[in-house]
Amino acid sequence: MKKDLLRVTDLSREDLDWILRTTKVLKEENKKGQLHRHLDGKSLGMLFQKSSTRTRISFEVGMYQLGGNSVMMSADQLQMSRGEVIEDSARIFSRYLDALVIRTSSQTELDKLASKADIPIINALTDKYHPCQILTDIFTITERKESLTNIKIAYIGDGNNVAHSWLLGASIAGMQLIMATPEGYGPDSDVVEQSMLIAEQSGANIELCHSPLKASKDADVLYTDTWVSMGQENEAAEKCGAFKGFCIDQELVGTAKDSVMIMHCLPAHRGEEISGDVLDGKNSVVWDQAENRLHTQKAILLLLLHDCIKEIYP
Ligand code: CP
Ligand code: NVA
Repeated sequence: MKKDLLRVTDLSREDLDWILRTTKVLKEENKKGQLHRHLDGKSLGMLFQKSSTRTRISFEVGMYQLGGNSVMMSADQLQMSRGEVIEDSARIFSRYLDALVIRTSSQTELDKLASKADIPIINALTDKYHPCQILTDIFTITERKESLTNIKIAYIGDGNNVAHSWLLGASIAGMQLIMATPEGYGPDSDVVEQSMLIAEQSGANIELCHSPLKASKDADVLYTDTWVSMGQENEAAEKCGAFKGFCIDQELVGTAKDSVMIMHCLPAHRGEEISGDVLDGKNSVVWDQAENRLHTQKAILLLLLHDCIKEIYP
């Protein structure tokens, strides 16, 4: 049966562990210049209905490095732009492609597409979730921390798609996550409830608050994302007002552990959610984090597209 990645909960704990393990090996192999033929003859469709630098390039390069081919599709040149419904498009994609990576606004539309497609569908960001980002982020933490479960992760900022994926990812992985958002900008209650339920089983600790200082105190990881997500441009002035005090600057970093990892999914808005000196500072891992999109997504592609991959990467 085909497997999609529409939200982090599409993965079991075992899948998550496999992705983390395999990403490490793929990264080491990549550093040695090793290319693969694991996805020889496979074609990955890429449909981006919103801007993207990291996700788009890393999936395209990743597919190439695995011996496959990628087909970049522009929404305004597809018949979808002239009214062909998403369900019919899904059936057509399934006849040509082996998987589809899609960035779109509506998670409901994405779920609809996945339900009609016979091929794996990978969420490259919707308004609700950004699973590939959070898998990468967790991998990036494993590169520097011995254990995922006994460190304090502080997410400070908007309760958006990245925050939602953090809640699900941290709860599956049994992590300690505290999320500080301004009043009125917290994560959706359905996602919070779901993560609390998962956390009961996994031993994760998920806490929500409105105080950046409470979140940052003694944190091992400080994480943020833009205050104004794609599609929210008309809310920019209002949001920038509401998020005053939520900037990860030197003062906030000073309350965290000395070894704190500064993380940001990027693109960053220097002087808004993060100060330029923190982004460029010694604790920042954002460039490695961005690089890791490539390695993590290669593991995701292998998990979803290669029938016998666990014989190659146990
Ligand atoms: N972090 C992230 O998804 O970046 P892009 O929008 O550039 O793909
Ligand atoms: N929350 C941001 C993430 C960008 C990678 C957005 O949706 O624009």
